Amino acid sequence: MMTIEQLQKEIIRMKKEQGVSIFAHSYQAHEILEIADYTGDSYALAVKAQQDDAKTCLMCGVNFMAETMKILSPEKKVLVPCPEAGCPMAEQFTPEEILAEKAKHPDCIVMAYINTTAALKTVCDVCVTSGSALKICEKLDADEILFIPDCNLGAFCAERFPEKKFHLMNGGCPVHAAITGEEAEKAKKKHPNAKLLVHPECRSEVVAHADFAGSTAAIMEYVRKSDENEFIIGTENSIAEHLQYEFPDRKFYLLSPRLICTDMKMTTLVDVYNTLKGTAGAEIVIDDETMAKAKVCIDRMLEMGG
Ligand code: 13P
Ligand code: SF4
Repeated sequence: MMTIEQLQKEIIRMKKEQGVSIFAHSYQAHEILEIADYTGDSYALAVKAQQDDAKTCLMCGVNFMAETMKILSPEKKVLVPCPEAGCPMAEQFTPEEILAEKAKHPDCIVMAYINTTAALKTVCDVCVTSGSALKICEKLDADEILFIPDCNLGAFCAERFPEKKFHLMNGGCPVHAAITGEEAEKAKKKHPNAKLLVHPECRSEVVAHADFAGSTAAIMEYVRKSDENEFIIGTENSIAEHLQYEFPDRKFYLLSPRLICTDMKMTTLVDVYNTLKGTAGAEIVIDDETMAKAKVCIDRMLEMGG
């Protein structure tokens, strides 16, 4: 039997001894964020992975995040504590389906939400994250964009750049897309003094009720900079939990108890501990051709998204 604190101490000791850097997406459990060297949204993690000089990175999140890390730093060993944890949206389309759609719009460039597999990125021109999408749309010299796979993030961009023509696919995050505008309206009525903060993976009818829409890190930053005391959190519920620890005197309401990403919940502190012990986890392996092709659109994102 080990307590959370004992596990955390052992993890910190082992990662130092082995020269491993731990990265954790903001949706990870609080006890995992506490032992991570880097936490943040998917854009920040991609940037930090490239800057960090550890030879081994342990990525707590979902698989596309670890793949991105490997593509950006092929010389590093990238480990995942729970190889089964994948983002369902990342696999909603095959490269062949995207190429067929692109053929219908020969002048478009393919903009891929980073929540896609490495294989899918090989047929895309530029990647975006929720935190960098608007900046990249603004900088990108393209009038016609095929946005894959998330139709909600795509619509979020399209509404803000009406001069550009967007083609959207019928994909999206099953967790965020399940929330309705009616639920957002009800939550605002129930908590009239609270600011509603949502992720742009939500439907536009939900975003329309929000005081702010942004990435997981941007939502947390909004709260840090705000003088308000009450917030309704319209993204994965772990964000409300982390914010509650950071600001125990403020009130954080859940937009919906259904905003739970089961894949993000799969990684446990014990998985991290066992991965460092060498008895669990897996190494990310991607073939050279996929890495080289997928890197082009991730590099383009990093050039334009900073
Ligand atoms: P962020 O880019 O905001 O971290 O979001 C990733 C994600 O999977 C949201 O559901
Ligand atoms: Fe994928 Fe949605 Fe989970 Fe984010 S919350 S990892 S988009 S399923």
